[in-house]
Amino acid sequence: MSRIVLGVSGGVAAYKAALLLRAFTAAGHDVRVVPTPGALNFVGAATFEALSGNPVTTDVWSDVHQVAHVRIGQGADLVVVAPATADLLARAAAGRADDLLTATLLTASCPVVFAPAMHTEMWLHAATQDNVATLRRRGAIVLPPAVGRLTGPDSGPGRLPEPEDIAALATVVLGSGPDALAHDLSGRRVVVSAGGTREPLDPVRYLGNRSSGKQGWAVARVAAARGAEVVLVAANVDLPVPFGVRTVPVGTAEELRVAMLAEAATADVVVMAAAVADFRPESAAATKLKKGAASEPDSVPLVRNPDVLAELVTKRAPGQLVVGFAAETGDEDGDVLSHARAKLARKGCDLLVVNDVSGGQVFGRAENTVVVLTADGAVTEVPQGSKDAVAAGIWATIVPRLHDDSRR
Ligand code: CTP
Repeated sequence: MSRIVLGVSGGVAAYKAALLLRAFTAAGHDVRVVPTPGALNFVGAATFEALSGNPVTTDVWSDVHQVAHVRIGQGADLVVVAPATADLLARAAAGRADDLLTATLLTASCPVVFAPAMHTEMWLHAATQDNVATLRRRGAIVLPPAVGRLTGPDSGPGRLPEPEDIAALATVVLGSGPDALAHDLSGRRVVVSAGGTREPLDPVRYLGNRSSGKQGWAVARVAAARGAEVVLVAANVDLPVPFGVRTVPVGTAEELRVAMLAEAATADVVVMAAAVADFRPESAAATKLKKGAASEPDSVPLVRNPDVLAELVTKRAPGQLVVGFAAETGDEDGDVLSHARAKLARKGCDLLVVNDVSGGQVFGRAENTVVVLTADGAVTEVPQGSKDAVAAGIWATIVPRLHDDSRR
């Protein structure tokens, strides 16, 4: 259990703070909500008190004997401000202490995460961008806002990331520290494949696999939080798109191959987290296969699909890092790691993220554990954790290997 301060400033998205609060308390954290007075125009203090089980005050004149404006910040393991309005970011950057939330920000020595939400013009304004840069320079994590529907008919960057995304990233910071979301992929282009391909047998049937896409999603989400421009080539995944990420939906291995080769041409990092079918039916029937019909097949001949990862390696741009995934089981020929080392060498990628799937233990599960092998011989164990925590561990291995001269 951690002590989380949830700061809420005065924007329409304040109602989503209630969902974020629920996510934190459901995970067992002790949450103290500190709204600005403006936030209470959108959501009442009673809602935050009932959901957190803790008192809610906005000013520094309540409970003065407990010195709340100092104690709340000092006692926190993490401060998350969601939504962070343009005004809140400005006051935080200026070091003001004109309400309980800004006073708390000045006394907190723990990691601080801001999740901005405002109209696009306000987000893009040089004043806001300068304030964000100042806060980041001081070590705060400022998540990029999502792109999408804003209040009223407007749409663009400025939407609050989904509460589940914020909770997932806050949990990464709690587990791995603020460096896990350092803003060091700014200006970098990252392409991630996720999900599992489906190879059609006829218009209604396909050969597929059990990949949920969650690990690739987390890899994309963490990269976006670190400032990268992220493209997610998504094979049959129906999950909410992480903020800051553009998706390219694909179905078959061949469609995935075409999309990956196109997107990878200008990428700094390519991550092949998708489960690509190695084989596909030789031909897909144009109409549904029916039992008893003359067209009823005795068997389904399969042909090999292209190896997308191997092709990406041969076509990789100078300085580009290519990361493969391997789901392995040990057998009489060797253990998981020896199979993985052989695969890293065979595929020629720079890093290989290895999942031990003996007994089908990873698919669809929230928790994961991996080992990252690198072509330079290093072996990094990423401890058991959420798929976001694992994604953070994977990026911690990738980032130091990025070449400064590979920016394109
Ligand atoms: N992969 C790919 N194209 C394929 C098969 C796999 O790009 N046709 C990629 C996966 O996205 C993953 C990596 O290759 O990043 C390893 O996938 P895996 O299925 O474990 O490897 P295989 O080449 O199928 O090796 P093996 O059959 O020996 O297990």
